[in-house]
Amino acid sequence: MKKLVIWGCGGHGREINWLCEQLGIKVIGFLDERPEMKEKIIDDVPVLGDINDIINLKEEIEIVCAGVGDPVLKKYFVNKIIKAGFKLSGPLVHPNINISKRNTLEIGCIICEGSILTINIHIGNFVIINRNTNISHDVIIEDFATVAPGVNISGNVTIKEGAYIGTGASIREKIKIGAWSIVGGGAFVKEDIPDKTLYAGVPAKFKKSLS
Ligand SMILES: CC(C)(COP(=O)(O)OP(=O)(O)OC[C@H]1O[C@@H](n2cnc3c(N)ncnc32)[C@H](O)[C@@H]1OP(=O)(O)O)[C@@H](O)C(=O)NCCC(=O)NCCS
Repeated sequence: MKKLVIWGCGGHGREINWLCEQLGIKVIGFLDERPEMKEKIIDDVPVLGDINDIINLKEEIEIVCAGVGDPVLKKYFVNKIIKAGFKLSGPLVHPNINISKRNTLEIGCIICEGSILTINIHIGNFVIINRNTNISHDVIIEDFATVAPGVNISGNVTIKEGAYIGTGASIREKIKIGAWSIVGGGAFVKEDIPDKTLYAGVPAKFKKSLS
């Protein structure tokens, strides 16, 4: 039986633990770099410490890196795990979603409850699709992006690497969201967003550049 360790024991990590409970997958621990978190029990699961504390489990476990929503942190974790030689988890998909067979899901991605993914959608490595997200045809969501709950993504949209789409945002068809950019919660995006920028509001407007 597959055994998982989830990197991150905050709110999202605990929700991933709950998702694993519903999928019948055994979670043997959380990872957290903060020394004060080590050996705490969170939602019945122990915090095992940092990656160096579980070297002896290397052959037995797979690690879930999408236990945190922040795309920058996700990439940092993935690089650290690959360097340490651990295996990464495959996609985790809630049983209560509506998804066609005409989509591709890459490693480490997470699709949460209530989401609808229609046809010809690409979900990249370590992408999080949070609850009740509605994704139309021919959408590409690149590696490390995070989509918060209740987002509507119209057809032919491309979300580039590491972008973050805030809760309840809607994106018009054929729009491109730049790499490592942020769309504020509740936005309506009707124009392309360049890389590394924050857009927010209805309609979404440039707010600031991101480093
Ligand atoms: C966008 C967000 C990340 C804030 O980022 P930030 O770097 O702290 O941004 P700031 O607070 O400096 O705001 C910058 C500007 O954007 C505006 N702004 C920020 N978020 C906004 C939003 N959701 N809608 C409209 N305007 C918004 C601010 O009012 C500010 O405007 P101003 O420069 O005209 O005063 C945050 O507001 C947001 O929407 N987060 C989404 C959270 C979410 O989806 N959580 C789900 C967890 S599961």
